[in-house]
Amino acid sequence: MDLLFINIKELLQVRKDPITFVSGKQMNELPSIKNAYLVVKDGLIYDFGTMASCPILQTFKIIDATGKIMLPSWCDSHTHLVYAGNREGEFVDRIKGMSYEKIANRGGGILNSAKKLQETSEDELYRQSKIRLEELMKMGTGAVEIKSGYGLTINAELKMLHVIKRLKDTYPIEIKATFLGAHAVPLRYKGNKQGYLKLLIDEIMPKIAENRLADYVDVFCETGYFNVADTELILKGAKSYDLRPKIHVNQFTAIGGVQIGIAYNALSVDHLEVMRDEDIEALMGTNTMPVALPGCSYFLSIPYTPARKMIDVGLPLALATDFNPGSAPSGNMNFVVSTACIKMKMTPEEAINAATINGAYAMGLENKVGSITIGKYANIILTKPISSYAFIPYSFGINQIEKVFFKGLEIEPI
Ligand code: NIG
Ligand code: FE
Repeated sequence: MDLLFINIKELLQVRKDPITFVSGKQMNELPSIKNAYLVVKDGLIYDFGTMASCPILQTFKIIDATGKIMLPSWCDSHTHLVYAGNREGEFVDRIKGMSYEKIANRGGGILNSAKKLQETSEDELYRQSKIRLEELMKMGTGAVEIKSGYGLTINAELKMLHVIKRLKDTYPIEIKATFLGAHAVPLRYKGNKQGYLKLLIDEIMPKIAENRLADYVDVFCETGYFNVADTELILKGAKSYDLRPKIHVNQFTAIGGVQIGIAYNALSVDHLEVMRDEDIEALMGTNTMPVALPGCSYFLSIPYTPARKMIDVGLPLALATDFNPGSAPSGNMNFVVSTACIKMKMTPEEAINAATINGAYAMGLENKVGSITIGKYANIILTKPISSYAFIPYSFGINQIEKVFFKGLEIEPI
């Protein structure tokens, strides 16, 4: 249906000329129009401006947005939302003092989720995953990246990617798929990591490429998982299949993951809780988007990505949820935006830029979503009547969203 929103208190993230992403000082600028209208036609943003120049469109459905703020939907560029079961038992173990690392070493963590997923049918995995996808859509996310990586066998990795494809074919939200076979070394390859890397590159990647099941490749580049040489092997292999890297780096230790990502033209390097000066310097002037995952820092009680330091030297930053059963069991981008302001000292403008246009860039969707620009998908959030946009991060944990639209179609918010 074609829509005309009128009397919008403030229309945020208005970019008449398309941009790819914002960095440094620009991150603190959030262009907006007060007392605005917005026209949606054929699922796309068709026109917008101030109420003084609002057109008369008799056949359009008119939505009065008096007192309400409108912004592009959140762009969540890093999730693992396809998984089987949950890990609240490990959560309780951590509360009692056991570390994430210790839990992983005793066979929990990623391997625990992999075991569950291998035992779950594709239909059941789809059923569990679609509940999470619907939840995050209702919380205002309009584009999402989803990773494999809880399969760790040929069949189970392909099962995950098939579920992602099914979600993509079913829901109006924009979805990008990432192959994360190198998430952990499965038990049967214990002591034979090279054998597992070979399986990923020689057996699984060709199947993925043949059926176009992934857009990107990911590696958990971390002490005890995959080192820089392992990561390079995967990225080199992936390059021949046109899978651009979006990799997990610097979550617990800084081992050179940022640099290897940049060397292979990574679209993004994600986590970055532990950043050395040389890691920050390496990112300067590159096309690689740094991505922070404050929900993970919150849930695991690990450091937050040094956003202030990074933005102040001129870098861009994107924000994502990392939605997964072990380190961030929440796909709520509103919480992420709040936490970025509260814990990482990002301004509301920086956080909203990081969670919209920069997130869109971090999954290659900057031409389709992430800003109010003519021709982009009408994936938009309409808030409840609120005093100002700073109220969104300020009122943490409280839903300020009244309506969400995907290509102009309204779905019920939570
Ligand atoms: O991004 N760090 C690697 N992967 C996930 C967590 C995996 C898990 O605990 O299941 C993350 O934090
Ligand atoms: Fe992750």
